[in-house]
Amino acid sequence: MITVKDNVFRLDTENTTYIFRITKFGHLEHVYYGSLLDQDDSADVMAQKSSVSIGSSICYDGSDKLYSLDNMCLEWSDNGRGDYRQSPAELKMPDDTFISDFAYLSHRIIDGSVPMKTLPSSYGGDQTLEITLKDTTSDVFLDLYYTVFEKADCITRRAVLKNESDDPLIIRRIMSMMVDLPDECFHMYTLDGGWIKEAHLHKIPVGYGMTINSSTTGSSSNRHNPAFMLASDIATEDHGNVYGFNLIYSGNHFGSAEKSGRDIVRVSAGINPHLFEWILNKNEDFETPEAVLTFSDKGFNGMSHNMHDFVNRHIVRGQWKEKERPVLFNNWEATFFDFNESKLLQLAKTAKSLGAELFVLDDGWFGERNSDEAGLGDYNVNKKKFPRGLKSFADKIREMGMDFGLWFEPEMVNPDSSLYRAHPEYAVKSPDKKPVLGRNQMVLDICNKEVRDYIVENVGRILDETGASYVKWDMNRHIAEAFSPAISNQGEFYHRYIMGLYDILSRIFDKRPHILLESCSSGGNRFDLGMLCYSPQVWTSDDTDPIERLKIQGGLSYFYPPSTMGAHVSQSPHQQTLRDTPLSTRFNVACFGCLGYELDLKYLSHEEIKEIKEQIAFYKKYRRVFQYGRFTRIRESRGKENKVIWQSTSNDGALALTGFFQTQAAAAESDDKLIVTGLRPGRYDVRKR
Ligand code: DGJ
Repeated sequence: MITVKDNVFRLDTENTTYIFRITKFGHLEHVYYGSLLDQDDSADVMAQKSSVSIGSSICYDGSDKLYSLDNMCLEWSDNGRGDYRQSPAELKMPDDTFISDFAYLSHRIIDGSVPMKTLPSSYGGDQTLEITLKDTTSDVFLDLYYTVFEKADCITRRAVLKNESDDPLIIRRIMSMMVDLPDECFHMYTLDGGWIKEAHLHKIPVGYGMTINSSTTGSSSNRHNPAFMLASDIATEDHGNVYGFNLIYSGNHFGSAEKSGRDIVRVSAGINPHLFEWILNKNEDFETPEAVLTFSDKGFNGMSHNMHDFVNRHIVRGQWKEKERPVLFNNWEATFFDFNESKLLQLAKTAKSLGAELFVLDDGWFGERNSDEAGLGDYNVNKKKFPRGLKSFADKIREMGMDFGLWFEPEMVNPDSSLYRAHPEYAVKSPDKKPVLGRNQMVLDICNKEVRDYIVENVGRILDETGASYVKWDMNRHIAEAFSPAISNQGEFYHRYIMGLYDILSRIFDKRPHILLESCSSGGNRFDLGMLCYSPQVWTSDDTDPIERLKIQGGLSYFYPPSTMGAHVSQSPHQQTLRDTPLSTRFNVACFGCLGYELDLKYLSHEEIKEIKEQIAFYKKYRRVFQYGRFTRIRESRGKENKVIWQSTSNDGALALTGFFQTQAAAAESDDKLIVTGLRPGRYDVRKR
């Protein structure tokens, strides 16, 4: 609920309150964000008191010698008016200065969410507060949007900058949100890594100055996921104050916590200003991505539960929203590029007999794609592998009683491809330097509408021809040499690339809502809320070693629910780690996600076939709980580092599925105690699978 009274804005969710107010000079002063307050709690009492002399700081107005923006808790802050902390915006204003001063002009409360024009956004919010600020000396306006999601205990924030002056404005940096919070000995928790070691949780103390979580690869990246937390130093999985932040965006992101000398922590999140510059001409506006904020005083699990609900109810949309996801078989790790139709049909037959519901044909079905050196960009089906075409193959899969799914990597082109030979100008490259490749491929210039049309047309055609009901959308390199002849200001490249991607995804999938899209970028290189607006699930990592997956899925579980994580059982010893793990362990980890199998089935023993059949039957029985139950990380009571405990609880609280994993043997281990939380009071049977 949003209430406005005496210049005070109050946003309540079921368990949290967010308060800010307009100061006498029109700035927005942040007052409080935390656990739900009583309705009669007063902003005046809670607000920061300014009684201390401002010393060497700048006084905003001579009429109040204590009013210094540098010392205040704010909702938005400018450059050049005495606040030396990092401003959420760096704007070269129409008067050619970097000085802005946005002050309150008006506000309105709107029912529900307010959709965006240029970017995907959340939906189903209860109410939105729109506050319009105006620069005190120009016709530049800033709209701040706050949408409240009461049940999920989340608030989203974003900004829209509008230039109504005659001269252009240059945006060098604009965040989606900033907020100043009193320090609680915060630590920043981030999900970092790289290919095959995505999303490992790390903790860094928020010291004086800037603590940053950002990506520069053109994607949200496997290096640093856009989501981060700020938690008080005493927070645990189940207790203590934890703030969570995320961004509905798939490109370069920037999140920071800046602790000032007065122990105020400025939190910001938005598009990364790295190589960013946007020209805003008269009557144009610029929309920032939507940032998601949540708070819980129930520790990390409390924060995660809010974020999980938010993703399942307000990000994932369409026919697959909260729908059970199929158990799939993917041929990639079974065959790589070395397959033909009869080999695949043999795999499909076995997969079906094991209980798989969807057969996914991965990379290598088109052009001269017999290795990763050629073929990307082409859409002609490889006749050597599929002499009767792809439709005939897809029909055979359906005749077996499985759905058919197909892999694409539409944003890429190999120099060795018909597309590149015909249209070298479609590839992103510097105008005069030798191109740099990644995985032997170049990025297609989707800032260019003609390139987007090529992709939409070809992917759409293949989908309609084959009747595919699932797509794996891959993207296997970082962007370098960001340059597009299609745009005049190259500082706009990265953001226009991402807007181009969203345009392609909407044009292909909006009219084919039955298709389940699983996005992938060498695994989890683009595991973010922007992609989740289109693809209900993401291929979490190319690392399917279950012990590694405990860290990867475990890290992601802080912000993303199991329904978003593709998790497959693969061969052992594992291809990357050479670790040998029992089939049961591989399943026990994968079942806390969207289950699939990705291994050469012809090497399975009779015992393994029997075991997999049982696994899949068990998974199907409890699939709703695994995918949509309340996922909780159980704190191991004695702090044992070789134990990981996950629990998924049915939404009625009557059933809990617990995974108790021991990652390493330790000498003279003491006994373990199985801790189960969140069940309705009563008597329970405990069964071991
Ligand atoms: C990277 C993906 O993460 C893999 O699962 C597989 O699809 C390969 N690309 C195919 O090239």
